[in-house]
Amino acid sequence: MKGLKRICALTLCVGLFAGSLTGLTGCVSIKSEKRIIRISHAQSETHPEHLGLLKFKEYIEENLGDKYEVQIYPNELLGGAQKAIELTQTGAIDFVVAGTANLENFADVYEVFSMPYLFTSEAAYHEVMNDTDYMKQVYESTDAAGFRVLTWYNAGTRSFYAKKPIYTPEDLKGLKMRVQQSPASVNMANAFGAAASPMSFGEVYTAIQQGVIDGAENNELALTNNKHGEVAKYYSYNRHQMVPDMLIGNLKFLEGLSDEEYEIFEEAALISTEEEMKYWDEQVDEAKEIAQNDMGVEFIDVDVQAFKDKVSGVQQEMLDNNPDIQDLYDHIQKVNEKYAQEEE
Ligand code: GCU
Repeated sequence: MKGLKRICALTLCVGLFAGSLTGLTGCVSIKSEKRIIRISHAQSETHPEHLGLLKFKEYIEENLGDKYEVQIYPNELLGGAQKAIELTQTGAIDFVVAGTANLENFADVYEVFSMPYLFTSEAAYHEVMNDTDYMKQVYESTDAAGFRVLTWYNAGTRSFYAKKPIYTPEDLKGLKMRVQQSPASVNMANAFGAAASPMSFGEVYTAIQQGVIDGAENNELALTNNKHGEVAKYYSYNRHQMVPDMLIGNLKFLEGLSDEEYEIFEEAALISTEEEMKYWDEQVDEAKEIAQNDMGVEFIDVDVQAFKDKVSGVQQEMLDNNPDIQDLYDHIQKVNEKYAQEEE
């Protein structure tokens, strides 16, 4: 896999180099006049995000096909999230899908999504994320870093899974658990009593297999799409986070588009989100079945309240340390309350 990644990265470099040479010499054939748009993501080709991105490609090419060709690079072929974000920042590639944890270093408002038990229902989570008017200011918060978010993708609910069963927060004590590469994610896992071990998504399988870590935390698709269920046989439903993925675009590229083109890119992004969401629930059900029946993973229902109690001080601590998250936090609480009242 690593070899393949290297070959792909090399091919991309050679391609980009050749592209810039053509630009310099002015010898542009009709075919190469199309601007290639490269999108990187970390998931497999059957994952809902890949299916959503295929719609993005289809819509762009249907509407602007004389100008653009969209190429999608799955499976971290162009590097893990952090590397791929850097490539998007510099404009070596145009888009990347990455979890919000990876954006914390660029705009600290994104820390809010790393808070344990931030959203109190899936309905509240979806309403907040689908509120494009409110999210606009959040999406533009990375403009200074050279990229902007265009839309979000559902990445489900995250729970802990490991080589050993976790029934209570006490079972996490001393376990080395992989988290995403962000200070807030490290803080969160440590607050649960685990020993947080940040690393990129693509490294997790081997790290669990080799015993470098005891487990990780993610949605159910990680067990099957990324095969983590082969090496970690216990998945505990403590449901500590709903962390969205973001489609991020190079700002110069986006700003170079005409108003009409920009609108088409925005529409394509929204369509890709709708498409992604269509598959999410059914793929989670499928993943559970495959993990349980074919991989021998045991799903454990735990007392979620005990896990909540363990990290009950974390939200306030994060608010005290980072005033930039207060507004979004308050906004989310209002939506949480609305759905809590509806349930009563
Ligand atoms: C999920 C999420 C990814 C993220 C990954 C991770 O798969 O969709 O964006 O990178 O978890 O834990 O790193």
